[in-house]
Amino acid sequence: MSTHETEPSADQTPKEYWEQHYGERERIWSGRVNANFAAVVADLTPGSALDLGCGEGGDAVWLAQRGWQVTAVDVSDTAIGRATTLAHDHDVLDRIVFEQHDLSDSFPHGTFDLISAQFLHSTVRLARPQILRNAADALTGGGTLVVVDHAEAPPFAKKIPHDHPFPSAEEVLAELDLPAAQWERVRVEKVGRDGADPDGQPFTWWDNIMVLRRRD
Ligand SMILES: C[S@@+](CC[C@H](N)C(=O)[O-])C[C@H]1O[C@@H](n2cnc3c(N)ncnc32)[C@H](O)[C@@H]1O
Repeated sequence: MSTHETEPSADQTPKEYWEQHYGERERIWSGRVNANFAAVVADLTPGSALDLGCGEGGDAVWLAQRGWQVTAVDVSDTAIGRATTLAHDHDVLDRIVFEQHDLSDSFPHGTFDLISAQFLHSTVRLARPQILRNAADALTGGGTLVVVDHAEAPPFAKKIPHDHPFPSAEEVLAELDLPAAQWERVRVEKVGRDGADPDGQPFTWWDNIMVLRRRD
């Protein structure tokens, strides 16, 4: 959500807000896999994966290309439509099931070997702690939860309210309150990522990476 141009309106539902956001341009994201996510998942054995807030499908397609059977979820039908086109163009549509959910209200059925939430942020209603707890519950024994958050708003993201919270990785994990005996902390850290600002100038994005493995 780092470069949101859409200002949230108090009476917008999440679906209205995100449809408006995706409606502003034909494409919002790069279509490529998130770099930190790819680095974490590259060595895992493919199985079933759930992508929460899949956006335009860059991560879901990358997973499918590596043999994962993917369920990809978003609140925006526009985003899901673009992700479906991307999957079709990369010939992996048969490996991805797309589902539209407002994850604050409903969650996909089933269990998964990998659950991903990449930049699952919103300036409108989003029950993140509950969604991430649902994700933890939906992991198989030995499964991996990969959450990557923006650690802070970039200075050029003028439309994000100045008081919008960007919790640290430890604060996110404290909200999840998962029993330590059942969960291995594989990686919990804040990392810089090279990128560019809207003018194309080099810019370092700061991400919080949380990788947890559910013990058998
Ligand atoms: C900042 S974008 C990140 C998209 C993608 N994961 C990525 O890394 O490119 C957040 C995504 O979460 C979705 N989202 C926001 N609130 C949601 C909700 N309540 N239920 C489901 N998806 C939601 C948005 O539609 C958007 O696609």
